[in-house]
Amino acid sequence: MKKILKALSTFIQGQEESFKRHNAQYEAPGKFEQDRDAGYKNIQEDRINWPDFGIRDLLAKHPNVKTAVDIGSGTGWVAASVHSLGLNVIALEPSAAAIDISKRAYPAESYPNITWHQGFAEELLPTLRLTEPAIFITGCVLSHLRDKEVEKICRAICAVAPAGSVLAFSECWSEKKPWHQRMWHIRSKAWWQSQFPEWTLTFGGTKHDQGDYYMGIWGEKSAGNFSKE
Ligand SMILES: C[S@@+](CC[C@H](N)C(=O)[O-])C[C@H]1O[C@@H](n2cnc3c(N)ncnc32)[C@H](O)[C@@H]1O
Repeated sequence: MKKILKALSTFIQGQEESFKRHNAQYEAPGKFEQDRDAGYKNIQEDRINWPDFGIRDLLAKHPNVKTAVDIGSGTGWVAASVHSLGLNVIALEPSAAAIDISKRAYPAESYPNITWHQGFAEELLPTLRLTEPAIFITGCVLSHLRDKEVEKICRAICAVAPAGSVLAFSECWSEKKPWHQRMWHIRSKAWWQSQFPEWTLTFGGTKHDQGDYYMGIWGEKSAGNFSKE
């Protein structure tokens, strides 16, 4: 019964629900100090290279990638970490409060090559004009969103990513049947691969304790010439 109710709960999730819920948290008193300190700790612990992310390792294999697109950048620690690896970072985040925290925690004087953009990824990504291979990063963003939005985001990544681009998603995937509940969506490998027809995806990462799923998806867009749909 509980399972059925959870599955049904997915139908009441609205388009902007993840943004609204996170934004309310970012606007709460004390959130700046809390997320700044948590972000600094993540950076110190090299959290971008934990098994669900593996960003440093991926970039070491792709030294020609000099731009990062951090999709759903939250309060900015991933963008700051990747900036410290020498990349230019385009951070996309719908919450103005989160961007405000990011800019205060990682000021432009120390992080000159991060640009913070407020808006939904599905609207901002198609406006990017990238001329060199880039890394597309999401950290627990797409697993909160409905298929409709994730499909748009994946299509936009495919359209704007130059050949030779890579992706590192700390997002859920499962060997078994996909399952969905409100704000938590586990998609199958086949589903993810169908979103990235020109990319070779690799699945790995960390197995989640409560559930038969993992977090960690990587991809490389072939350097070949493909015609876009
Ligand atoms: C769980 S937080 C993760 C933040 C950050 N990636 C991290 O690892 O700390 C999910 C983030 O996705 C953002 N978000 C929600 N809907 C989005 C959308 N359509 N496009 C981009 N970001 C979105 C939320 O505002 C929130 O900051």
